[in-house]
Amino acid sequence: MNTSKMIMLILTLGLLGYASAYAEQSIHLQAKEVYHQFPFFDTKTPVWSYNGQIPGPLIRGKVGTTMVIDFSNRLKEPSSIHWHGLRIENAMDGVPGVTQDPVEPGENFRYRLKLEDAGTFWYHPHFNSSEQLERGLKGVFIVEESERQPWSQDWVWLMDDWLLQKDGTIYPHFNTGRDLMHDGRWGNVPTINGKFRPEYTAKPGERIRLRLINGANARIFSLHIKGLSATVIAVDGRPVTKFFTLDKFVLSPGNRIDLDVRIPEQVGGKTFTVEDRFTRRAFQLASIKVIPSEAVKPPDITPPTATDFIPAQVFKNIKVEKTWDLNAIRGGKFGIGWTMNQRLWPDADKVVYQLGTPQKIIFKNSSSRLHPMHIHGVFFRVLERNGIEAIEQFTRDTVLVGPRESVTIGFVPEHSGIWLTHCHIQEHAEAGMMTTIKVKK
Ligand code: C2O
Ligand code: CU
Repeated sequence: MNTSKMIMLILTLGLLGYASAYAEQSIHLQAKEVYHQFPFFDTKTPVWSYNGQIPGPLIRGKVGTTMVIDFSNRLKEPSSIHWHGLRIENAMDGVPGVTQDPVEPGENFRYRLKLEDAGTFWYHPHFNSSEQLERGLKGVFIVEESERQPWSQDWVWLMDDWLLQKDGTIYPHFNTGRDLMHDGRWGNVPTINGKFRPEYTAKPGERIRLRLINGANARIFSLHIKGLSATVIAVDGRPVTKFFTLDKFVLSPGNRIDLDVRIPEQVGGKTFTVEDRFTRRAFQLASIKVIPSEAVKPPDITPPTATDFIPAQVFKNIKVEKTWDLNAIRGGKFGIGWTMNQRLWPDADKVVYQLGTPQKIIFKNSSSRLHPMHIHGVFFRVLERNGIEAIEQFTRDTVLVGPRESVTIGFVPEHSGIWLTHCHIQEHAEAGMMTTIKVKK
């Protein structure tokens, strides 16, 4: 081979190497115990982390590419990672006993995820979840659009709450009678990205994409930014059909929203507080400080809207295939069980559907507690509440079903496999409120 041919070959290989590195990215996530410093305590708190970080590393991939995640479990108990909301191959869904074996202490598992949808997603274990998530195992997974959007800033807020004792350690009893009789385990220290009341800074005129992810075991957030306008542009990782204001959305465990936050040009020097108003007493979660500077020109962005993504008309003449009655019983491994049609996981009332056939399901809450119901691997649309048409202008993967409420959803199974369906209040799920939807070709 002559020199110029050789150079050509090296160049081509180099380019190919570059192209494939671009199309496939690999990262490593290691679950292990470390110490985390919360404010107000003298000592550090033992937590369970990915790569020593609280929350776990922020994963960013591009739509259409593949993310390879080498997971190694250095905890003292089995674990797994589930990629909440991502539509991926069933074998990569991370549910021990359903899609894979538990990853034992000291063992590894390689997840290969083909990123089909751009948006805000997250990851967490699916083994002894009420304890593993509560001890800190969770992180955000962003799939970027193929076209860069010129937001001034892209903020990612993983919301959580921790139940800490006086000495700063995590309250060590899980799935207690109290948690189970109520809406799961609610903490006493709300955090954003592991920090208590963080302050964010912006410039006048900026337009910020704010991604909110509720990663708490059970707490529900209803956010309000005093004095700023915030528009919901995406729900559960997908663009909405019509924009609406933040105040209209309740963020239950599992849910995500993307907001378009506009900082007016005349507010330099002001600080805005972000508070939660779900509970009777509102409390501050974070603040946004606008630096006293010249206003920047607001970026010109028209966030995408998804008008033709599983439209409600698809379900017009479809009959309800399944009603899952949600309620509690005495029994199960904790003494109080949460059921779907009177049955406890793994002896669940499961369903089998045909690929590509539209389905309607009713979640009927016969209890007086809250149940944010989540289905793996699909986006669904809310069609009715209590039998009355209530078509939402967006799709979801998690819907909050209030006390005595019944919610009718529609979806089209597009990936075969066995998809877990459960309440995202971790304590309710651990106490039996899980089943599966099997999708066959
Ligand atoms: Cu966040 Cu089974 O899911
Ligand atoms: Cu529940």
